Amino acid sequence: MRRILPNSFYNPATLAGGLIAAISFGLILFLMLLETLSGSPKPYMGIIAFVILPAILVLGLIIAAFGVWREHRRARAGITIEHHLPQIDFNNPRHRTAFGFVAIGTVLLLLFSAFGSFKAYEHTDSDQFCGESCHTVMEPEYTAYQYSPHARVGCVKCHIGPGAGWFVRSKLSGTYQLYAVTFNKYPRPIPTPISNLRPAQETCEQCHWPKQFFSEKEIKNTYFMSDEKNSRWSLNLLIKIGGGNIEAGPTSGIHWHMNIANELTYIPADSARQVIPWIRSKHPDGTVTIYKSTESTLGDEEIQKRPMRRMDCIDCHNRPTHIYQAPARSVNHVMELGWIDPSLPGVKALSVRALEYPYSSTATAMDSIKLIVEEFYASNHPGIADSSRGAIERTVDELRKIYSRNYFPFMRVNWKTYTDNIGHMYYPGCFRCHDGKHVTEGGVVLSKDCNMCHTILAQQFQQDTLRLSLGGIDYRHPVDIGDAWKETNCNECHNSN
Ligand code: HEC
Ligand code: HEC
Ligand code: HEC
Ligand code: HEC
Ligand code: HEC
Ligand code: HEC
Repeated sequence: MRRILPNSFYNPATLAGGLIAAISFGLILFLMLLETLSGSPKPYMGIIAFVILPAILVLGLIIAAFGVWREHRRARAGITIEHHLPQIDFNNPRHRTAFGFVAIGTVLLLLFSAFGSFKAYEHTDSDQFCGESCHTVMEPEYTAYQYSPHARVGCVKCHIGPGAGWFVRSKLSGTYQLYAVTFNKYPRPIPTPISNLRPAQETCEQCHWPKQFFSEKEIKNTYFMSDEKNSRWSLNLLIKIGGGNIEAGPTSGIHWHMNIANELTYIPADSARQVIPWIRSKHPDGTVTIYKSTESTLGDEEIQKRPMRRMDCIDCHNRPTHIYQAPARSVNHVMELGWIDPSLPGVKALSVRALEYPYSSTATAMDSIKLIVEEFYASNHPGIADSSRGAIERTVDELRKIYSRNYFPFMRVNWKTYTDNIGHMYYPGCFRCHDGKHVTEGGVVLSKDCNMCHTILAQQFQQDTLRLSLGGIDYRHPVDIGDAWKETNCNECHNSN
């Protein structure tokens, strides 16, 4: 047989190395082809296609080079070892059988590795991969996600989306994340806002588009106070979620901000975008209005040096799926359902206290919640501890569930870690701008009117008469705090207990 390559290439090490390199190269091509055909990016696949396989490929090349180098050394030292390739004689039945086995084996091996890498490829797109492969790191996000309206929307749909640019970026960061998790280099908690989150137009708007936003939606909340009787208070709000469709003429409503024709730009003073000293709104007719916070201590020059941001979905919906609830809200909810019995004295205050204690781990929390609740009734209401044993046990169960969905001591995540920009009760939210303290040069104040974003349809305290009006009623705060709720932002009291 004529040899095409120099003689030093024909040695076992070089041939084996070459084979390894060739197979990994083939698999890389195969995976890249799959990715092109499938159309949707599979971010973590990059780890296999661009990190692991190339590493094997390079290893193969090194082995091959080593073989060549050894041959050269031997040749210089005058040692000649003739490597003969095996000669196959098809007339010899034993050769025929052996060849058959080797050939079938090779084909099977190739098929299986192609199938295996295809499966790995599929797996990296799944939510189990994102949520479970790095279980402890993603536990808060994955848990909250499973109980959210987006539980069936894949992680990659929001975090990566289609298109080549984001595909490459996510591959690079996917690779970095693998390194960070392997070597325990990741930050706890994971910081937000995510600077390289794909623009909302290309993710959210694939499923929700501006024209879809019209009319109102009603929400009905029940609250229980922190007194012995767990006094009940209810509220109906009609949230004005319209404003997205400019073709329908002049629009109004909450989604006015992200109307394609309206351009709202703001400059945040902090990296979490919670303090907003400067806002500019550009209307379709070209008028520009600038609002400045009367409370900001930053000078105009300092403000202009900071990065500007055009408002999109994420500026309000920053927690569309990783939603961590304030304890008062979750407890109100299960009390309304009757899962925690509202007739247990002081159970609202007790529940919030049991959840908020800074436990060192989830396991400690599970034990302590039981102790705190049982101990409270045993020492304050011994009669009830006996007669309502079942209701108390149920309370413990519900609190444990709430805890495990909203508190993650290991990752240092709880409902206070990440702000939610929808609303204004527990976080600044809409009141970052609509706090009544953002004013134009001409003195126009950005409204904080309680019936602008929602119509307060009805309120009822305990057995008092129901106050109701379709045009909107004046708000009454459930406990008497004077006019404090008009001047102070709600979150300043409600996020501190
Ligand atoms: C509906 C869209 C959506 C889906 C689906 C989604 N995320 Fe997110 N995710 C977001 C948004 C929005 C943020 C916050 C971005 C910001 O504040 O900058 C975020 C933030 C995160 C963060 C940063 C920490 C935090 O809590 O803010 C992690 C980690 C994360 N997501 C992981 C996941 C995982 C894992 C999945 C799938 C199990 C997933 N996401 C599914 C939209 C989504
Ligand atoms: C792959 C499709 C898809 C994508 C992408 C998506 N969503 Fe959704 N979204 C849904 C579905 C499905 C629902 C549930 C509808 C329902 O419950 O009626 C939903 C519900 C919602 C709701 C209503 C929640 C509620 O409490 O009723 C909001 C708000 C929302 N999405 C915002 C977002 C934002 C913001 C993004 C981008 C970060 C986003 N969505 C991306 C499919 C998607
Ligand atoms: C970055 C600042 C900013 C944030 C945050 C913000 N808004 Fe606004 N909003 C504005 C400005 C500026 C205007 C109106 C400007 C104008 O008309 O010139 C406005 C107008 C509105 C309007 C009136 C639209 C109309 O003309 O009918 C509603 C309703 C509204 N916002 C609701 C909300 C809600 C709800 C939130 C929180 C989820 C929110 N906004 C958060 C800046 C903000
Ligand atoms: C100014 C803040 C703000 C911006 C910007 C914003 N939203 Fe909303 N959106 C709200 C509020 C407030 C609600 C009603 C409260 C709720 O559903 O919890 C809402 C409700 C929704 C709903 C539920 C509607 C329903 O019928 O129940 C969807 C879906 C949604 N938004 C998607 C989006 C998408 C997609 C974008 C970006 C194109 C966006 N929003 C931009 C504040 C905003
Ligand atoms: C800039 C728009 C805006 C203004 C102004 C506004 N709200 Fe709201 N409010 C919201 C949004 C958005 C929500 C959240 C709806 C949801 O949870 O889906 C909300 C929720 C609430 C809730 C329910 C809170 C909860 O989480 O249980 C109360 C109570 C409330 N508003 C009272 C008021 C009062 C009182 C005022 C006047 C001082 C006011 N709002 C002004 C946008 C606004
Ligand atoms: C000066 C502090 C303060 C301010 C400001 C304030 N609140 Fe309250 N709020 C309280 C106190 C105290 C309670 C009683 C808590 C309890 O009994 O559990 C309460 C109770 C509530 C409750 C029922 C609590 C629950 O979760 O069960 C709601 C709803 C509420 N306030 C809404 C608001 C809204 C909306 C605003 C802003 C417009 C606001 N509050 C501003 C102090 C405040």
